[in-house]
Amino acid sequence: MVRDIAVRIALIGGTGRIGRAVVDEALAQGHEVRALLRPGRDAADLPAPVTQLSVDVFDAPALASALTGCDALVSAYGVPASQPPGRLAELTTVLVRAAEQADVERLVTVGGAGMLETAPGQRLADAPDFPHALLPKVEAHADAVAVLHALGASLAWTCVAPPAQIGPSPRTGRWRSDAGRLVRDAEGASRIGYADFASALVDELVARRFPRGVMAVGE
Ligand SMILES: NC(=O)c1ccc[n+]([C@@H]2O[C@H](COP(=O)([O-])OP(=O)(O)OC[C@H]3O[C@@H](n4cnc5c(N)ncnc54)[C@H](OP(=O)(O)O)[C@@H]3O)[C@@H](O)[C@H]2O)c1
Repeated sequence: MVRDIAVRIALIGGTGRIGRAVVDEALAQGHEVRALLRPGRDAADLPAPVTQLSVDVFDAPALASALTGCDALVSAYGVPASQPPGRLAELTTVLVRAAEQADVERLVTVGGAGMLETAPGQRLADAPDFPHALLPKVEAHADAVAVLHALGASLAWTCVAPPAQIGPSPRTGRWRSDAGRLVRDAEGASRIGYADFASALVDELVARRFPRGVMAVGE
């Protein structure tokens, strides 16, 4: 675990399930967090050390301005159910542009499990029993990573992807990672709690073990 460098983090999605765990982990690891909230969002429940800034994250110049003084941009954005999954790739394009404009070269995003490899050339989402309804989300995450590959050459980006199952669970501080491949435990299960996923993400933010790539995480 890397704990000796304090990072000033701008965080999108800090009010969400994964993002809120990232807030807690980042603060526990001694980092500073600036939560970037959509205009009108009241986030009174975020812990006091977190500074809050209201910004339209789809507006690249406005987002770049909101990154002033930060070392890293982390996005745990989730597309609202009322909006098309393609909003994720749209936002990812804006993240890259804004980070470049603001001279913030570290960008960490959250991916999806369906796009991870289970065997060479085979993704989790290619399995016959993979829920059909989730395929648009899988493609949205794959498209977002394609944006990072296509546009993010000047950035140190990493997409941190959860395993097949993620949910509330006490933090253990134990997790494993792999480059783009689904992580399973000894019994073949692929899962993690939000807190341990956040631990892995915040650790990677500093450690940079997966530059310009997908870091898959699991128990
Ligand atoms: N949780 C899972 O089971 C799971 C599994 C695999 C992958 N993922 C991926 O992980 C990412 C985060 O998932 P999650 O479950 O943590 O999502 P979530 O709980 O739905 O949270 C979504 C976050 O995005 C924010 N957001 C939405 N629209 C925004 C906007 N226009 N401007 C600023 N912030 C905005 C929300 O803010 P508000 O609170 O203001 O709405 C919220 O903080 C998603 O890409 C998801 O696909 C999640």
